Amino acid sequence: MESKKILLATKNRHKIEELKALLSPFGWKIVDAPSLPYEIEENGKTFCENAIIKARFYAEEYDITALSDDSGLVVDALGGRPGILSSRYGGDDKENRKKLLEEMKHLRNLNERKAHFVCCIAIATRKGKTYTVEGTCDGYIAFEERGNRGFGYDPVFMPEGWNKTFAEIPEIKEKISHRAKAVKKAINLLKRIEDEI
Ligand code: IMP
Repeated sequence: MESKKILLATKNRHKIEELKALLSPFGWKIVDAPSLPYEIEENGKTFCENAIIKARFYAEEYDITALSDDSGLVVDALGGRPGILSSRYGGDDKENRKKLLEEMKHLRNLNERKAHFVCCIAIATRKGKTYTVEGTCDGYIAFEERGNRGFGYDPVFMPEGWNKTFAEIPEIKEKISHRAKAVKKAINLLKRIEDEI
């Protein structure tokens, strides 16, 4: 029997790499999203609203089951910022981290630097149904950048229980991250709705 196809509704190559690594053992055929000549407007108010916009768009446009990831960093001391605006907080990834560290430089105690990552995965099926699952990862914002692997805020985020940033321990990130937790739930969901894919 031909394996079921799932389109990854994202152009972020880091997310694609992480999602493929996590999803590939399960026998679905994972396909990349085609390039679009325009940006999909993510005007939702929550991670899940934005994830649904992306997944539904691709599912309807290409008549395929689509899986999207909307994610970001929520910092307690900043009232939840950068939140859903994580990707464009200060500019590119490097500028985003610089702005974050600058805004938090007066917070000298690690306990004042609590943060968590959120990942919402939306699955939009060819038959018009939409599902969401969420994963979070608690931690702290480091005092300076450390490590050179990963992407986005990885060099400044230390997961709870580790005195290292995600950019220093990608093999741990793969197991405990917001995305890993959301994907685990997504896999269980996909198994349950396999006949709708
Ligand atoms: P999105 O493409 O709108 O979902 O934006 C996600 C943004 O959140 C990325 O550009 C990163 O800045 C940040 N982000 C999400 N997940 C991660 C992660 O696993 N590590 C580091 N930064 C992340």
